[in-house]
Amino acid sequence: MSNPDHPPAVGVLDQGPELIFPPGFLWGAATAAYQIEGAATEGGRTPSIWDTFSHTEGRVVAGHTGDVACDHYHRMPSDVRLMAELGLRSYRFSVSWPRVQPGGSGPANAAGLDFYRRLVDELLGHGIEPWLTLYHWDLPQPLEDAGGWPARDTAGRFADYAELVADALGDRVTYWTTLNEPWCSAFLGYGSGVHAPGRSDGADAVRAGHHLMLGHGLAVQALRASRPQAQLGITVNLYPVTPASDAPADVDAARRIDALANRFFLDPVLRGSYPTDLAADLREVTDFGHVRDGDLAVISTPLDLVGVNYYSRHVVAAPVEGAEPEPYWRAPSCWPGSEDVRFVTRGVPVTDMNWEIDAPGLTETLRRVHEEYTDLPLYVTENGSAFVDAVVDGQVDDVDRLAYFDAHLRAAHEAINAGVPLRGYFAWSLMDNFEWAWGYTKRFGMVWIDYDSQARIPKSSARWYAEVIRRNGLAAQ
Ligand code: FCB
Repeated sequence: MSNPDHPPAVGVLDQGPELIFPPGFLWGAATAAYQIEGAATEGGRTPSIWDTFSHTEGRVVAGHTGDVACDHYHRMPSDVRLMAELGLRSYRFSVSWPRVQPGGSGPANAAGLDFYRRLVDELLGHGIEPWLTLYHWDLPQPLEDAGGWPARDTAGRFADYAELVADALGDRVTYWTTLNEPWCSAFLGYGSGVHAPGRSDGADAVRAGHHLMLGHGLAVQALRASRPQAQLGITVNLYPVTPASDAPADVDAARRIDALANRFFLDPVLRGSYPTDLAADLREVTDFGHVRDGDLAVISTPLDLVGVNYYSRHVVAAPVEGAEPEPYWRAPSCWPGSEDVRFVTRGVPVTDMNWEIDAPGLTETLRRVHEEYTDLPLYVTENGSAFVDAVVDGQVDDVDRLAYFDAHLRAAHEAINAGVPLRGYFAWSLMDNFEWAWGYTKRFGMVWIDYDSQARIPKSSARWYAEVIRRNGLAAQ
């Protein structure tokens, strides 16, 4: 597909000036272990909180589980060949903690580590840079039984696990991110309970957020000590938060949600402190007694890069009577201390997740991280959209997804022009997969998965992306 003799599948690369990305820009696609691997009980793997959650009635749409998923565990070599055909320069995957350290403590499981060794070797053999995420939400169940992320000890367990993976893969993996989207782990997992482990307690969510970041800091220290050459970072999901009007009450609502969604993580990791307004907003939820002396120094251990996942914008307003909380991330329990803030629907086009499409928000988000927080290299570690796709004559012509990628890449380019050191972009996702509480009902992939036959069909967006990578850019509009 990256063969220059083949014409591009879609006509966005017409004649004319091009929007070229910097040399060496890291073009990739992302996945996560539980969403694609399957083989849930093979090779010594034991349950994670997502196995338990998805096997609990009523938690995931239609009772879907990740037991088989995309069967990537068995199809990995051909999946890597497909990545090579698409011309990917990098592949962001996550390691399943209960596969490599069953139960979450004790010695490594050689069979589990072997799978990732083979994956990394396959990638390197095809000239694809491996990008390893240590934690994409699959906490070993026994650690949840011992208290989960609200318990401080989990942070130490995570650092031990990081070290064990570094020992096995540190000689061949350069790029490491510790956590994927700690907001989701903390506030969807322990606040609203729509994600595993499905608990619902505001104070626990805040504690979980802190211990996730503590685990991140300890893991960075362990990785730095054993692999001084590694490029280390974290991936956070960020949203511009815009007040629905200039009215002071709406502006204050935006401040509160921005504190919980963005600054809760950016400030400790990149500044070594919690925002003071956050502590005030949460005073009836928690006194932050779980924060010990020295924690923030660990959490702000210097990094080499920051990963940003971007999907949409939040527009919020002061409360009114009878506001309807929908979709799920609007659930009041996701926002301890700000439960009465109203999320506003603007009537702009949305994806199949009901997330508003807002490409300029990506430029805004990247500029904010750079201008307010750090000079570190930034990477978009996820960006993408779910749409209802269909196979017609063996093809999937996903024009809406293609347009979404196109618009967001233009927005990313604009951020570069504005001085942001953006060094790479990972499409979410390489292939359709288990979309958490939505099971297989939402498709984010550039590659279609037929879950009955496990056939893979690259969609139009995949062919288009291959061409973007080949040209290192897009046609100017
Ligand atoms: C992100 C997750 C990823 C996927 C996308 C749609 O929040 O990191 O696993 O579910 O959303």
